Amino acid sequence: MSEPTVIDALLAELGAEVVQLPRDFGSRQLQDWSGVPGAVPAALIRPRSTQDVAKALRVCHAFGQAVVTQGGLTGLVGGANALGGEVALSLERMSRIVEIDRTSATMTVEAGVPLQVVQEAALDAGFYFPLDLGARGSCTIGGNLATNAGGNRVIKYGMMRDQVLGIEAVLANGEVTSAMHKMIKNNSGYDLRNLLIGSEGTLAVITRAVLRLRPKPTAVATAWCALPDYEAVTKLLALSQARLSAGVSAFEVMWAGYYDAVLANLGQLRAPLDKRHPYYVLLESVGSDPERHAEAFEAFLGNMLDTGIVTDAALAQSEADALAFWAIRDAPGEYPKFIPHHSAYDVSFSISDVGQVAEVCEQRLQERWPDALVMIYGHLGDGNLHIVVDIPGTQGRVHDEIDNVIYDVTRDFHGSVSAEHGIGVKKKAFLGHTRSDAEIAAMRLIKSALDPRSILNPGKIF
Ligand code: FAD
Ligand code: LAC
Ligand code: ZN
Repeated sequence: MSEPTVIDALLAELGAEVVQLPRDFGSRQLQDWSGVPGAVPAALIRPRSTQDVAKALRVCHAFGQAVVTQGGLTGLVGGANALGGEVALSLERMSRIVEIDRTSATMTVEAGVPLQVVQEAALDAGFYFPLDLGARGSCTIGGNLATNAGGNRVIKYGMMRDQVLGIEAVLANGEVTSAMHKMIKNNSGYDLRNLLIGSEGTLAVITRAVLRLRPKPTAVATAWCALPDYEAVTKLLALSQARLSAGVSAFEVMWAGYYDAVLANLGQLRAPLDKRHPYYVLLESVGSDPERHAEAFEAFLGNMLDTGIVTDAALAQSEADALAFWAIRDAPGEYPKFIPHHSAYDVSFSISDVGQVAEVCEQRLQERWPDALVMIYGHLGDGNLHIVVDIPGTQGRVHDEIDNVIYDVTRDFHGSVSAEHGIGVKKKAFLGHTRSDAEIAAMRLIKSALDPRSILNPGKIF
């Protein structure tokens, strides 16, 4: 009789209800949003509990079987794609909200819960979960943790790392590390939680988390601002942070090229202002003083218009107005409709360099491809630019050449090749532009200590 295979062992341990073979998951989506091609996994494991994850990893560890963990598959760097030979482990069944603790202001969840479900449950309970990004309906808390997701409200509340107090995870050998703490302070040795956050499925499978909730804002003010130049954008950023007493909860900048392209191609978007301008900023401030919040925001905006820092502005008079402004900023979710073969970048720089970086990138791209569509936008308060490039007629054949243009500029300006999306497979070749050899060697040591058989998402990051 032949030796049992790893699939036989997984089936024996977990049953056919948890372990599916390719013939059973035929038409299922298996690749993330990056456009990086992915292989069909050898099996799909859909655990119901942390114990199921532990059993699956114990078997895979014993067999040296590679595992790719999948959340909502909205990642943009190919991190959740199988490269060939892996089994996929999806957290989709582990999507419960376990507890909301009103006194500690925490929400305990399973890792497969979608971000939007958490946001809505927090609001229903009278709290606020501030992490927000365009893929909110599909991305999961486990994926947000594994990529240390950023998004629109980092400027006030920080990245995913700042929204979590405790994590439970299963290590490569099937051991469960449970640190489901609810306290903010915990300096008792190495912070394993922070090591796993941003590890892109290469160090452990995150199974549960204790999320930190914030007070629910009772006032929101949102404006769409037009600005004459990049210097004005940085002035508006500094002054809004200094003068709005409730602070700035979003400062999303869009260059005219982005604005023109999304408005021209997505019929559902409404132009907030009559004329075209070089720069736009979606400025949002949330607070807790409904009486004075709107007044103070409007007075600040009036002052920015008087000084010429802002050339023109539209103030949201209703939630529908604010949503219409956000729809322009959330347009990246619609790229497949009009630029299916685009190349996308997620880079960061010091805020003082961002204006020049954008100029240099655009210039170099247009020298090489005069008809290039270059769309630049991003989370300026975090120094985070998204650059999207589409060269008509090339059907994506020049991705590598575009990569070299953008990442050369990134290296020259001492930026990061990934501000918030991670490295995955898409940016592996460029990790050394941002991280030193010594840093990468230390990362490899951590990887080999926690995952000596290299079964967790091999071939990703390095
Ligand atoms: P997946 O894509 O399934 O996986 C991502 C990575 O995490 C993979 O390496 C995977 O192996 C690993 N992983 C997933 N779950 C686990 C787990 N439980 N344990 C261990 N590893 C795991 N990102 C931002 O940061 N900011 C944005 O503003 C933003 N906007 C976006 C807008 C759109 C329209 C889209 C499509 C994506 C956007 N993203 C953004 C990227 C993406 O949504 C985030 O990276 C998100 O955090 C991924 O979550 P996911 O559940 O879809 O993870
Ligand atoms: C955004 C994604 C692409 O900010 O990170 O739209
Ligand atoms: Zn972003």
